[in-house]
Amino acid sequence: MPFPHTALLPAQLAIVVPCYNEVENVPMLVSALDQALAGIAWEVVFVDDNSPDGTASCAAQLAQSDPRIRVVKRIGRRGLSSAVIEGILASTAPYTAVMDGDLQHDEQILPEMLRRLKDGAELVVASRHIEGGDNSGLANRWRHVLSDTGIRAAQYVMPHRISDPMSGFFAIRRSTFDSLLPKLSGAGFKILLDLAMSAPVGTRIEEVPFVFRPRQAGESKLDVQVLVQFAFMLMDKVTRGRLPTRFLAFALVGLIGVLVNVSVLHVSKIAGLNFSQSQFLGTYAAMLTNFFLNNRITYHDKRLKGRRMWWGLALFVVTCSVGALANIGIARMALHDWGHGHWSRSSAAGAVMSVVWNYAVSSTLVWR
Ligand code: GDD
Ligand code: MN
Repeated sequence: MPFPHTALLPAQLAIVVPCYNEVENVPMLVSALDQALAGIAWEVVFVDDNSPDGTASCAAQLAQSDPRIRVVKRIGRRGLSSAVIEGILASTAPYTAVMDGDLQHDEQILPEMLRRLKDGAELVVASRHIEGGDNSGLANRWRHVLSDTGIRAAQYVMPHRISDPMSGFFAIRRSTFDSLLPKLSGAGFKILLDLAMSAPVGTRIEEVPFVFRPRQAGESKLDVQVLVQFAFMLMDKVTRGRLPTRFLAFALVGLIGVLVNVSVLHVSKIAGLNFSQSQFLGTYAAMLTNFFLNNRITYHDKRLKGRRMWWGLALFVVTCSVGALANIGIARMALHDWGHGHWSRSSAAGAVMSVVWNYAVSSTLVWR
């Protein structure tokens, strides 16, 4: 890509872009920035957390022919806030902007955000909730409710009036950032909220409207799953990697499966089914729960989707049925030994047995 003479000047504006699995969006974002920031000396810092799709190598490839592109790659860590902080720290530009790497943020308002900073603003928030802004790009109704509730809660505790404190799109003077840095927590994904909470009363904060675009390629990472993964990562850190996280996740999912199994068993009993019938229902309910939870959590990095997911489910059910036969056999034996008053204990024994079997099967066959 040919680049203008401003590319060889020290950057005035650094655009920090946290990204995870955005390989398709990175090249598009670079050309969008190139067009929107004509005449400005800018650089972009992609902060990638070792995405399996090769986002970092894609950006590094582009950087080979464009000195305005930089890459920070972090290994063994995930987190939007900390990625943003480290990206800003990796640059030396006096002005910094932070935006998502999925093209949902409108790069065309960057010059206006920079102008505001130069005119004296310390923090400029790109807002979906002021006149001229729009939030229709949010994936679904559920996200709207979540977002609006979050905003209201945040506004309640914040020392500043910001219409869109959850925005992932903002610009900040580097000196302002540096003064707030010691107070930042760096955890989670609400970096702007973190900054706004830390900024003293009287900080000059301005807002610029923008239209939040729908995501074109890739998928959103900010859901419950991220929270769960974050929890596992913390656990991994606390135990210093001595506990294999995947097995831990599998065991926890298995535990939920056992609970599902036992609950279904009890409901079936109340509904008047006999032990074998109840055991059958409980086992399959547990199997389905385990498959979907493992697909989202335990094997999130190998997550099966669409047709491959249904094939995976079929394979999982078939192979686990073999385990379930053993499960039922063991449960019956246990029931025989322990007596008929011990339904839950008997079926739990069988279910634990099938968790072990399922782990062997799933990690070698289903999520290879
Ligand atoms: N380095 C890194 N590490 N980047 C991440 C991580 C991570 O753990 N998680 C997400 N990202 C990147 C994504 O690749 C994307 O570029 C950006 O952070 C935002 O993530 P999305 O997954 O696209 O978030 P969203 O569109 O659901 O949420 C957006 O809107 C929210 C408000 O509704 C973001 O702008 C949020 O910051 C914002 O609060
Ligand atoms: Mn997004």
